[in-house]
Amino acid sequence: MCGIVGAIANRDVVPLLVEGLKRLEYRGYDSAGIAVLSGEAVRRVRRTGRVAEMEAAALAEGLDARLGIGHTRWATHGGVTESNAHPHISHGELALVHNGIIENHEAQRQRLEALGYEFTSQTDTEVVAHLIHHHRAQGGSLLSALQAAVKELHGAYALAVIDKRDPTTLVAARMGCPLLLGLGEGENFVASDVSAIVSATRRVIFLEEGDTAELTIDGVHVFDADDAPVAREVHVSDVSLASLELGPYRHFMQKEIHEQPRAIGDTVEGIVDAGGFDAGLFGKEAASVLADVESVQILACGTSYYAGLTARYWIEALAGIPCAVDIASEYRYRKVVGNPKQLIVTISQSGETLDTMEALKYAKAQGQDKTLSICNVPESAIPRASRLVFLTRAGAEIGVASTKAFTTQLVALFALAVTLGKLRGQLDEAREGELLEALRHLPGSVQHALNLEPQVAAWASSFAPRQHALFLGRGTHYPIALEGALKLKEISYIHAEGYPAGELKHGPLALVDTQMPVVVIAPNDALLEKVKSNIQEVRARGGEMFVFADADSSFSESEGVHVIRTPRHVGILSPIVHAIPVQMLAYHTALARGTDVDKPRNLAKSVTVE
Ligand code: F6R
Repeated sequence: MCGIVGAIANRDVVPLLVEGLKRLEYRGYDSAGIAVLSGEAVRRVRRTGRVAEMEAAALAEGLDARLGIGHTRWATHGGVTESNAHPHISHGELALVHNGIIENHEAQRQRLEALGYEFTSQTDTEVVAHLIHHHRAQGGSLLSALQAAVKELHGAYALAVIDKRDPTTLVAARMGCPLLLGLGEGENFVASDVSAIVSATRRVIFLEEGDTAELTIDGVHVFDADDAPVAREVHVSDVSLASLELGPYRHFMQKEIHEQPRAIGDTVEGIVDAGGFDAGLFGKEAASVLADVESVQILACGTSYYAGLTARYWIEALAGIPCAVDIASEYRYRKVVGNPKQLIVTISQSGETLDTMEALKYAKAQGQDKTLSICNVPESAIPRASRLVFLTRAGAEIGVASTKAFTTQLVALFALAVTLGKLRGQLDEAREGELLEALRHLPGSVQHALNLEPQVAAWASSFAPRQHALFLGRGTHYPIALEGALKLKEISYIHAEGYPAGELKHGPLALVDTQMPVVVIAPNDALLEKVKSNIQEVRARGGEMFVFADADSSFSESEGVHVIRTPRHVGILSPIVHAIPVQMLAYHTALARGTDVDKPRNLAKSVTVE
């Protein structure tokens, strides 16, 4: 949440900051701002709303500078106002941008007010600007002031700071929120993620927890939590510019939905190249870590949690191991019974979701050190805190609503279920071969599902005027019903609920009337006949049904029952294929309602606060 970019260069940094903020906008889009050192003065432009509005204001001001910082905000402390927007400035001299939450900001605020500092915002961030300024006033460099200040902060932060008294330096600090340095030729950068700077450089250093850094035109110096100089590895990012651009698509969500055959294909290729369902897929230590696993505990939030719910069916069926799935924000606050032989699996697209990270730390604190992270962002915090890692190959996901990350997580989880089954002697070679073959065919089946887009789009016009919708599924398709409902509500703002179809008559059936569209995911599996009975229950109450079936489900359209069929039944992988039409339904409904598909209100892509 919140995006940071900063640059020190031999050229005008304003276009670099603006471009960087546009790429970081997925992290928060309540307000945006930049502060630059222009001549002798710190000059700042802030606007509520999108980066484009701030950019227009910056152009109008004619800013031109060699040193600057920028920020795109997702409001936590203090409303969405210009005075709460970052950068925050202390005494007209020092400007700062911040991602994270300072927990002791109230106590620090009182202390700084007593020292004569005046506050102009309701943010926790302004405290940090004044605190660094206060330490600077005691003498020493901007870096030493930053290092002194962060030792007095509790909470999470990524910080970038400039000061007009230090026109050749940009300083940065990281604790609990991602921050990296970008290394250019005669220019250096700081950013929340590599997308912000990839047009300038791909050479990056990921700061570690507690690190501070000093950037000049000529180089960067990193210091650890004890302020000792430290050498951090330089990585070359493989994020491509094409993956960050819309190309022919209208929205990133649309692009990412259509990228799924490629994203799934790449993820499957990683499995095939590693020799199939082998422990090595999950890291060097995996064979020993997985060998004596007695149970699996999955932890995640949102869509990633629904991937976990689907995986439970696979893990129990294929590996014969008990599997529990918890919402990370619930797990971390309940008393759990630690079992050192339990495999803790965290699932996160971003790898920085705070609740998932804290749930992982909590699990480890209970003596559970068999940890596996399924993640889409290499070098992010959650995989770095896990012993085993499976990196999905979805590529950068920019639309706030997760799509290709979800289906590639499902591929990874399926591979985990089969691998565990194999290690436990539950699957013979023939069955393993069949399952690998099924995975190889998956990109083609997903493409067939994508080809249904015109039919799904035609349904969207029936959904657009509705206030509510129900999504039903059974077995592995129940989590897909949950995911369909989440997608619809988050981007179209239609209230939607996902239910196991068998639960209908235990309450939600009371909601069904002619105004309630009911989406049913009904492939030809062992539960089809039961789903059909549930459909009758809805029809008898006048509810209009929208059924996603497959070629083999014996369904016919009738009054009030609409059916779209995926071309073939893909057996155990069917939930992955059925994720596609529910994503498209949400997308086209949102289009019909005219909402901001890629940046739905109140949300942000990576949730680094509680
Ligand atoms: C919904 C969505 C969110 C995320 C959730 C977890 O479309 O994207 O529900 O799935 O915030 O995020 P990650 O996977 O990054 O931990």
